[in-house]
Order: sequence, then C-alpha cells, then structure tokens
Amino acid sequence: MSARANGHVKSGKPGANTETPGQSGRQPAKLGATGSIADLTTKKKGERLERKEEEPVEVQATIGVVGAGTMGSGIAHVFARGGFQVLLYDVDQDALDRAMAGIAKNVGREVSKEKLTGKQAAAAVSRITTTSEPEALAPAAMVVEAATERFEVKAEIFRALDAILAPDAMIASNTSSISITRLAAQTGRPGQVVGMHFFNPVPVMDLVEVVRGLETTAETVSRVQSLAVHLGKTPVAVNDAPGFVSNRVLMPMINEAIFAMAEGVAGPEAIDEIFRLGMAHPMGPLTLADFIGLDVCLDILRVLHEGFGDPKYRPCPLLVQMVDAGWLGRKSGRGFYTY
Ligand SMILES: NC(=O)c1ccc[n+]([C@@H]2O[C@H](COP(=O)([O-])OP(=O)(O)OC[C@H]3O[C@@H](n4cnc5c(N)ncnc54)[C@H](O)[C@@H]3O)[C@@H](O)[C@H]2O)c1
Repeated sequence: MSARANGHVKSGKPGANTETPGQSGRQPAKLGATGSIADLTTKKKGERLERKEEEPVEVQATIGVVGAGTMGSGIAHVFARGGFQVLLYDVDQDALDRAMAGIAKNVGREVSKEKLTGKQAAAAVSRITTTSEPEALAPAAMVVEAATERFEVKAEIFRALDAILAPDAMIASNTSSISITRLAAQTGRPGQVVGMHFFNPVPVMDLVEVVRGLETTAETVSRVQSLAVHLGKTPVAVNDAPGFVSNRVLMPMINEAIFAMAEGVAGPEAIDEIFRLGMAHPMGPLTLADFIGLDVCLDILRVLHEGFGDPKYRPCPLLVQMVDAGWLGRKSGRGFYTY
C-alpha cells in the first residue's frame, strides 16, 4: 500500500482545504478512561446494548476506512451518520469521488424518508475526509478494511496499517470469507484484529457478523459489538472459519442455483421466483448474486474451496466464465440479468 505520487486528502466539507489531518493539527483519537472505544459512544458500563434513537452525538474518535467501493462507501456513511470523523482511503481517486457522490445521494434518500434531517445529513457528509495517502489514516482509533477480496491485497494493507496506526488502535476487516486469524498474523497486534462483516447495502442492513480470530481478545470483540450497536446495527459474534457463517451457507446456495441454470433445469427468472415465493426470500439467489457482484461471489467461493479443500465448494464454470467476460452483475450492467 504505497502512497500515490498525486495522493491527496479531501474533506467532505464544501470548500474545505486539502491538508492532511496531521497538517491541520488533528490529534490522534483519544480512547476513553478504560481504553475502550465503547466509551466514546456515550454508553456506560452495564448499560444494555441497544440502539440510541436520539440525535447522533459528535464522537471524539476518528475511524479509518480502507477501500471506497460498494462496501467501504457504505461503511463510511454509517460511521459518519453515527457521529464519527471518518478518513476514507482508496488507491483509486475515481473510487473516492464516486463514493462521496454516492454517500451524498444516499443521505439525501434518508432525508426524503425522514430518517435524517437535512442538517444531520449535511453534518454526516462533512465528517468524511477522503484520501489517497495511507499515512493519513494515522489518527484513526480503528480502521475498517473493505478493499478487494484477495488475501495478498488485504495482507499488504494490514502490514501497512500496523506500521501507520497507534499501538492501541484496532484493525477490523469487512472480508466476506478470508481468515481473520491469517490477516491478524500480518500484524504485531493480533489481539486487536477482528472481523466486522457488514452487509450490502450497509446503511440499510441490520446485521454485523463480528468474527473472532484465534487471538482476538474478548475486549476487542466487546468494543466492536458496542460500536455496531452505536451505529444502529445488531452484532452477532462467530468464530473464525472460511466464509464465517453467512457466506459458508449463502454461497453454496448461489453456486448451486448457477449449476441448476447451467444444466438447463430452469432459467434465472424461474429459479429466483421459486426462492421468492417458496422460501419467502426477498430476492432469489441469482438476483442476489448480481447485487453482491459475481466477481465477489467467485472470490468467496474460491476461499471456501481452498480453505476447506472440499469439492462441494467448487465454483460453477459458468460463474467463472461470466466473470472472465466482465459480467459482474449490477455494477457492470450485466450478470444473470441486464441492468
Ligand atoms: N459486495 C458485497 O455485497 C459485500 C458484502 C459484504 C462484504 N464484502 C466485502 O467487502 C470488501 C469490499 O467489497 P466491495 O464489494 O466493496 O468491493 P469493490 O470492488 O466495490 O471495492 C473495493 C475497493 O477497494 C479498493 N482497493 C483495492 N486495493 C486497495 C488497496 N491496496 N488499498 C486501498 N484500496 C484498495 C478498490 O480501488 C475499490 O475501490 C471485500 O472484502 C468483500 O468481500 C462485500
């Protein structure tokens, strides 16, 4: 993860300057008296973990987000909406620009649905600072990594973050399937590395699958759970294994639906309708695969296949072929359906 020569930092605030947080004098986020990020979310010890309905508080902590794609932009959105200062980092300036435009549009939608006031929406956007310099993440008390689902890409990011962040900072990964234990081993702080698996679209979906790596401490898990609750989400903690629970069960179902289609058992509409009407799924497996991204589905299946060494996870050759053709689902305009 090297800083690009033309890397720079931009604030979501209209007309804000382009200083890095260090240059603008922003100090690293201070953790609370007990050293818990949960302290920063106004929750007292012993208080029940439940969603706060009042006005989002301005939280004295900075959260870093790595990767400004589908998930990173949603994660930046919910942290900013929850009152955190957010540093959103990507190697691709276009991704950062698209993310800010998407977040502005999505908070606007929340205003029209009366979930946020116009003032709250503007304040949330203004809390996000984009950057293409990894060193700009230094003030973050926690970083959520949401970059491309490849171990080598994430491993390099984790090594870089370990060097950049304060020793007490936590590093979470939004990975769909990659071992948290393996990512943690890239750092000198495995106890502070955890999975924080959000679901798409992040501002809407309630679940955060919190993944305990082999060395993740109970304190780290508890802090991330409190944080998820502060964001209005429901955390469910699981142990580290390929695909965790969500994708270990979901991806074989999607893969089998692709095999059924490839073998001519039924077309995509019929397969999806069977799941919507027969199993009360809000969308069928092929519509869902298009929504997740066929490349992301393939990456996850490969992690399951390799991780378990079990042929039942073998990606359907049709899925491989579609990804090779650049048919990635909604994001590319073509997948099992055209958009
Ligand atoms: N798409 C989903 O429905 C979904 C759901 C849950 C979790 N996830 C997981 O979230 C992560 C991101 O998925 P996505 O769908 O947002 O992917 P995406 O392709 O939309 O975005 C990935 C972003 O990471 C950036 N990136 C790549 N290498 C980088 C690096 N070295 N440093 C900084 N940024 C880098 C890319 O430029 C891109 O903007 C993956 O681990 C994925 O498995 C995805």
